[in-house]
Amino acid sequence: MLLNKNHSLKNWNTFGVDVKAKLFIEVFSEDELREILSDIKFKSERKFILGGGSNILFKKDFEGLLIKVSISGINVLEENDNSVLIEAGAGIIWNELVKFCVDGNYVGIENLTLIPGTVGAAPIQNIGAYGQEFADTFVSLNGLFVETGEQKTFIKDDCKFSYRSSIFKEELKNNFVVTSVRLRLSKNLKPNLTYKALSDYLAKNGIINPTIKEVSSAVAEIRKSKLPDPQKIGNAGSFFKNPVVSEDSFRKLKAEYSDIVSFPSESGQTKISAGWLIEKCGWKGKRVGDVGTSPDHALIICNFGNATGSEILEFAMRIKEEVANKFGIQLEEEVNIL
Ligand code: EPU
Repeated sequence: MLLNKNHSLKNWNTFGVDVKAKLFIEVFSEDELREILSDIKFKSERKFILGGGSNILFKKDFEGLLIKVSISGINVLEENDNSVLIEAGAGIIWNELVKFCVDGNYVGIENLTLIPGTVGAAPIQNIGAYGQEFADTFVSLNGLFVETGEQKTFIKDDCKFSYRSSIFKEELKNNFVVTSVRLRLSKNLKPNLTYKALSDYLAKNGIINPTIKEVSSAVAEIRKSKLPDPQKIGNAGSFFKNPVVSEDSFRKLKAEYSDIVSFPSESGQTKISAGWLIEKCGWKGKRVGDVGTSPDHALIICNFGNATGSEILEFAMRIKEEVANKFGIQLEEEVNIL
């Protein structure tokens, strides 16, 4: 491990915002991480754990110790006729784990193809796409408490997973570092084709009983067609969550906007497409300086050049205001703002 001072984070966040961390350290094992967390010289430093930097907006320099977790390894721990139990290090790029599973014909995370970020970041916001969620295959994870360096294993019930959230984004926010994750994948389940965009794409391409490789390729194609590649245009995927409203509020909105895009949610509530709400406010493809929404997807805020974190945030706040004024809905950030 190597400690860097005044380290540029431009290549460590997918928005490509040019900020610095006062202290930056990359750790390659749980032992190295424990050593750092218990090191007396860092005791008083504010600490933040960086995964892939794909869901974070730095609005200014980080005046503390930024820890990049680069713990590697993908291992099959158990295998029987029906399933496999896989353990992956928190530093593994999420899509590498997806590829490993798709190549092995292990079913359960193929719809999560090409989600940016690392394995360790996946449980924090319970990543999801095209009808699958991280929590669906999750078994347990290991990690350390930031304050004490103490180790703990969390099983599924401990994690309080919900739509784009978990205990690690709420009560334990910035207080627990994931070091490894265990998932159970099926060897004989059929792919999940409940998401309309996915089933439509497969049908259009004449694929009737897709293999998981075909599902993974289809998801990759759909993503590429509407989500800008963060390697080329700075972005962090969906900036806001899709808001969930009561049955009554939804009925009123639907009466006024018959084309509103929505999905059923838990306990009779309705999830509304934030992309649709933003587009309806006239903000799809809108640009202010180097910041703008993607012309293909209004929920993706992009850094088209050298935007600062505060310019991106200001733009996002204007979107929130417009949506609140027009629809009476308060959008909530999906991206972590630091
Ligand atoms: N839509 C619009 N205008 C837009 C964008 C979307 O009207 O500018 C409408 C369209 O009708 C479209 C529908 O919204 O068919 C749904 O769009 P999409 O399939 O892209 O899904 P989403 O609800 O916008 C969510 C996730 C994405 C995930 C997709 C696919 C959230 C906040 N976002 O987006 O996740 O890839 O579903 O499952 O739940 C991410 O978390 O960063 C992310 C990209």
